[in-house]
Amino acid sequence: MSVHTQISRMTTAKIRQMKANNEKITMLTSYDFTLASLVDEAGVDILLVGDSASNIVCGNQTTLPITVDEMIFLTKGVVRAAQHALVVCDMPFGSYQVSEEDGVRNAIRIMKESGCDAVKLEGGEEVLPTVRHIIQAGVPVCGHLGLTPQSVNQFGGYGVRAKENAEAAKLLHDAKLLEEAGCFAIVLEKIPADLAKQVTEAVSCPTIGIGAGNGTDGQVLVLHDMLGLNQGFKPKFLRHFAHLADEVKNAVGNYNTAVKESSFPSAEESY
Ligand code: KIV
Repeated sequence: MSVHTQISRMTTAKIRQMKANNEKITMLTSYDFTLASLVDEAGVDILLVGDSASNIVCGNQTTLPITVDEMIFLTKGVVRAAQHALVVCDMPFGSYQVSEEDGVRNAIRIMKESGCDAVKLEGGEEVLPTVRHIIQAGVPVCGHLGLTPQSVNQFGGYGVRAKENAEAAKLLHDAKLLEEAGCFAIVLEKIPADLAKQVTEAVSCPTIGIGAGNGTDGQVLVLHDMLGLNQGFKPKFLRHFAHLADEVKNAVGNYNTAVKESSFPSAEESY
């Protein structure tokens, strides 16, 4: 393979083109090489190394504690797995809110050290100058509006956002600003389906919904949630496409019993 070998992975330009072609976009979170390989092989368009890794991988109550170093560490494994999908890494809380300069420095560091194709960050008008500068520096940005979990302490919970007219109007305005700034896509989290559809029709870049109805250009879910690995978490918007928690507990239970009763390993499983 030469150093000039063309990238065969999905690109942000192709993601934009999918909206123009009326082709739905799929995004799932991934945090490690093994599962990311399976998600990529199954044909998902975008692997998101979400800061939900803070909850799913590290067991924190919120996304707030995860660091840039930890996001880079996880993203490297996902990038090694991605043969087809675009890899997007979340900029964690505190890595872009302090100043534009700080945001650009962290975005460049994340892309340079992890090998991801783009970053995602939360917020609208408040972070617009930072979004502009990151894009100008050559790092593609995915926006994120609606329920933005890094602001959970400001919101006071994880409820549906933009149900009132004023917040809905601000969200629509923010989406147009992010589009103008050059975001290649915008995640819309936990907002009324009608509003998500309105935003989708108002912007030229793709919208990717989670808990935002069926009128967006694509959908995203947290992998562990949709696989049924995250026991006890079943918000209305989530569909379990498998029930792997039961499978894992069964398999581990069977292993435990087999070892305790000395039926594993057998003669055939021994050297
Ligand atoms: O961190 C994450 O998993 C996300 C998705 C919920 C969109 O941002």
